Amino acid sequence: MSRDTGRLLYILARATQAKAIVEFGTSFGLSTLHLASALRDNGGGRLITSEFEPSKLAIAKANLAEGGLADLVEFREGDALQTLATDLPDRIDLVLLDGAKALYGDILALLEPRLRPGAVIVADNADYCPDYLEHVGSPANGYLTMPFTDDVELSIRLG
Ligand SMILES: C[S@@+](CC[C@H](N)C(=O)[O-])C[C@H]1O[C@@H](n2cnc3c(N)ncnc32)[C@H](O)[C@@H]1O
Repeated sequence: MSRDTGRLLYILARATQAKAIVEFGTSFGLSTLHLASALRDNGGGRLITSEFEPSKLAIAKANLAEGGLADLVEFREGDALQTLATDLPDRIDLVLLDGAKALYGDILALLEPRLRPGAVIVADNADYCPDYLEHVGSPANGYLTMPFTDDVELSIRLG
């Protein structure tokens, strides 16, 4: 994730006054740090993040602890198709898709019923996932979408 994308995530989470965020693909927690910082500055909230490599998750946890943000983050270890299938917030304000590109559509399908009107979905390198782009790009599916930078597809859930 680039520095600009991190800043974009922070701005979007502040602008939407996000309280509930879901992240697919934690890695070392760089994006998680930006999103959790925004939650803190929004007055608190819950960030669920998913990663299937335990060694990466251990480093992410340490990074969030070092940043004083661990209390806002729920780390879910394992395949996100399973870990994000249950116990989600009733209303999701913001989603970051940054795991295996081929799964973007399946992960969005898990979260879709809980996206609040105006929820923001940031998809990294969605160019590699034409099915996902087709889904959010088809007006009947209830999204507005646009490529925002070379590597980010930015979408909102319509009410
Ligand atoms: C590009 S990295 C994420 C970078 C992170 N969002 C950041 O900006 O700091 C993608 C991560 O997604 C994880 N991943 C890929 N497929 C996954 C899956 N099905 N479930 C959970 N994690 C997955 C990979 O292990 C990898 O660490």
